[in-house]
Amino acid sequence: MTILNPTNINQNVRNLEYAVRGPLVTRALELAKELNNGAEKPFKSVIRANIGDCHAMQQKPLTFFRQIISCATYPSMLDNPDIPEDVKERVNSLLDACGGRSVGAYSESCGLEIVRRHCADYIKQRDKLDQDVDWQNIFLTTGASEVVKVTMSLVNQSSNGKPVGVMIPIPQYPLYSATLCELGMHQVNYYLNEQENWSLNVEELERAYGEAEDQCEIKVIVVINPGNPTGAVLSKRNIIEVVEFAQRHNIMILADEVYQHNIWAEGASFTSFRSAMAEINAKLELVSMMSASKGYMGECGLRGGYGELYNFPLDVRAILYKLLSARLCCSVLGQITMSCVVKPPKIGDPSYEKYEAETKQVLSNLKSKAKLVADTFNSIEGMQCNEVAGAMYAFPRLSLPKKAIDEALAKNQQPDFFYAWQLLESTGVCIVPGSGFGQAPNTYHFRTTILPPPDVFQDMMNRMKSFHQQFLARYS
Ligand SMILES: Cc1ncc(COP(=O)(O)O)c(C=O)c1O
Repeated sequence: MTILNPTNINQNVRNLEYAVRGPLVTRALELAKELNNGAEKPFKSVIRANIGDCHAMQQKPLTFFRQIISCATYPSMLDNPDIPEDVKERVNSLLDACGGRSVGAYSESCGLEIVRRHCADYIKQRDKLDQDVDWQNIFLTTGASEVVKVTMSLVNQSSNGKPVGVMIPIPQYPLYSATLCELGMHQVNYYLNEQENWSLNVEELERAYGEAEDQCEIKVIVVINPGNPTGAVLSKRNIIEVVEFAQRHNIMILADEVYQHNIWAEGASFTSFRSAMAEINAKLELVSMMSASKGYMGECGLRGGYGELYNFPLDVRAILYKLLSARLCCSVLGQITMSCVVKPPKIGDPSYEKYEAETKQVLSNLKSKAKLVADTFNSIEGMQCNEVAGAMYAFPRLSLPKKAIDEALAKNQQPDFFYAWQLLESTGVCIVPGSGFGQAPNTYHFRTTILPPPDVFQDMMNRMKSFHQQFLARYS
């Protein structure tokens, strides 16, 4: 007999779910293997549009990033005459900050000071601030995911015996529901308004707050901007309204801004929570985050991220940093990647032109796919898709025939899971059902990324369109 079984382990861990890596993904991997082994399928390839993993979708790494990472990892490469001087300078300054000039040495728990300073300069420039940003408020992490986890751990204590409540958008990125479940916190859903391009409405925030107030002690509101899975970009006015809401209720803000480079809609722009709060002189605590995984870099596997604390009491900051010290440090290669993200080559640097050309290419591809995806879905009967104004996803709404819903429920499946499963089995396209992100009751959606390369993406749109027509014909 084993000591451990599913009922005597931590039930919070047992219960947590992470839809973007759920059973559909497992099946997609199996299908790809079956195809490789020569199995006959109604499709020739599996297209994985389930996760925002750019390089897995053939996006090329940026040369500047990889030169820095290669030279930092194997410094003999610094003698190579093909390596540009600005890369050599950066690598030398980063290695000088590493113990024994090696990326194999642990760094300080919050990350290398030089990289934290690069992040501080980036924020100053991004938000056009007159004053310097305090680099000591920045901590480097294993992707943005770790910022979320440590922040939630930090605030997870209530004063009234009820669980700590965290307001999260619905639909949300499942990192939030999973982390809250793991830590035994109370998820307070506020619904984004699909009819108005997934906008964030303050009356809805008040409703959600008011209805949950008795069940928990609400301490945090999470905002994802640009939105995953919605693709919405919040206006400055809207952000200020959220800040005012948080001020009214004395709760802190966790701003997930990992898609800040991914803005597609004409006239839209990214406003950071930090700058909006500075503008109205808001004094509440904010944790905002950035990642190496998104934007034009897509370096998901290198696991770089940072969090910035704003308006944090110094004694609380010290406790958070103590928590970080318990994991020693995050990957130094991830930290170096963040240095590249926040301090790219500038005009006149030897690497500048290539860097500009490469990043422009990535962004313009994504922008055209953001338009194509919404246009295609909107041309299909029974599908409705809001503009993909930012980020890397579309989250269209499906009008499913009653017969399909009944058959799904009879099989104990969510109707959008049922749809996504059939789509995968008949076309090889792997998407994530809306139920994995949360959605208004009795509505059905799915999320697709816009990451496959343009030709594959067009093929995927065609497969989805013809599948949908057949699905409607079968169940109507
Ligand atoms: C909204 C959002 N936040 C956080 C993350 C996690 O990013 P990271 O790879 O930096 O941990 C993701 C990843 O897809 C995301 O979409």
